[in-house]
Amino acid sequence: MQQSFPDDRPLAVVAAEAAKCTDCDLYRNATQTVFGEGPEDADVVLMGEQPGDKEDKSGHPFVGPAGKLLDRALEEAGIDRSRVYITNAVKHFKWRPAGKVRLHQKPNREEVNACRQWWELELAAISPKVLVCLGATAAQAVFGPSFRVTKERGRFTTLPTGVEAVATVHPSSILRAEERRDAEFADFVDDLRAVAGRLQR
Ligand code: URA
Repeated sequence: MQQSFPDDRPLAVVAAEAAKCTDCDLYRNATQTVFGEGPEDADVVLMGEQPGDKEDKSGHPFVGPAGKLLDRALEEAGIDRSRVYITNAVKHFKWRPAGKVRLHQKPNREEVNACRQWWELELAAISPKVLVCLGATAAQAVFGPSFRVTKERGRFTTLPTGVEAVATVHPSSILRAEERRDAEFADFVDDLRAVAGRLQR
């Protein structure tokens, strides 16, 4: 585990700094930095991989199809989205052109590491009870590269900062699941219900 939340600058200050970030090359092809959003006193931080096409254009995290699915899952799990802070491990959209569309590309290790400073500062400012990593990129950024969501989803681990962290699947993987989609969605809601349970303690 590689955790060292460095300081507690207010989120607005951190967001303004992140908006100018050129620490890796992803800013070159992205429309803008998509910083996290939500209350500074949120009990839960959800962390995805990186903004998608819609998020890149709008500047807001999880507003596209994956975000809609996430909204539904949070509601079913009894977690109020307006009380959740939602962010991404990487703050710029990485894509390649395919005809008229921009195809998502997975960020590499250096890109994820270059962005680590931003989510560490987000967590330091928010101090949530629970951090939920959505998918492998976020989970490996937090728990290390050998973490496997398939094997270790739903397992709560207390980070050195005292935050309880857990990983589950990325909502996009549910959208891609086709005939297993309902079952995958139900498992995702179960993982989020376990998060809701932690908040009651
Ligand atoms: N997928 C992510 O990981 N984050 C977003 O903001 C949107 C889609």
